[in-house]
Amino acid sequence: MNPLFITLEGIEGSGKSTNIKVINNYLNDKNINYINTREPGGSEVGDQLRNILLNTEKKLSNQTELLLMLADRVNHIETLIQPNLEKGITVISDRFMDSSYAYQGGGREMGLDTITKIIDGLNIIQPNLTLLFDLPVEMALERARKRSKLDRFESEDYDFHQRIRETYLFLAEEDSERIKIIDASKDIEEVESQVRKILEQKL
Ligand code: TYD
Repeated sequence: MNPLFITLEGIEGSGKSTNIKVINNYLNDKNINYINTREPGGSEVGDQLRNILLNTEKKLSNQTELLLMLADRVNHIETLIQPNLEKGITVISDRFMDSSYAYQGGGREMGLDTITKIIDGLNIIQPNLTLLFDLPVEMALERARKRSKLDRFESEDYDFHQRIRETYLFLAEEDSERIKIIDASKDIEEVESQVRKILEQKL
């Protein structure tokens, strides 16, 4: 079987991290080789960019934020994602390109076309499968706030997160072959069974 590039997307508190374990268990059962990674971060340079990007003390313009996310992504593709896929290893990334459309394009209101223009020529590869964990913003923020100190994005207001959710749903409508919506408002077992069903269809 060809290795897959699988990405997880969703607003803060949508339960992506919990479900990476579900995907891992599924792939272990099928004896499929995989690695887990994330954005921003995922590589050594990426971890430094992540610190800058999530730090609430440093003010960044929207354009700077987008370009740092893209710099992180290109480095991540070159140093980790592509080399592993070439070795036949499936790659699971917690966030990828759709996050830039949703957060910078939608959340920061830079627009989706602006982002498409900027990434033209960057060789951003397309995931084989994207799981979008969708749930109402109120519910997600309540979960995220219980977790820990809020980062640059988590401390934004309700409307910011609502725009992100809407952009994700728009992207899923535009590319329903790749992006599968999971109802993340349901309890853990129900969400897990949705994830397993989608993986079964894809593998
Ligand atoms: P993280 O702590 O990994 O959040 P989460 O657990 O919700 O994924 O922080 C990543 C943050 O970076 C998250 O708020 C989304 C944001 N982000 C963007 O704004 N644009 C991007 O392109 C990416 C990859 C992430």
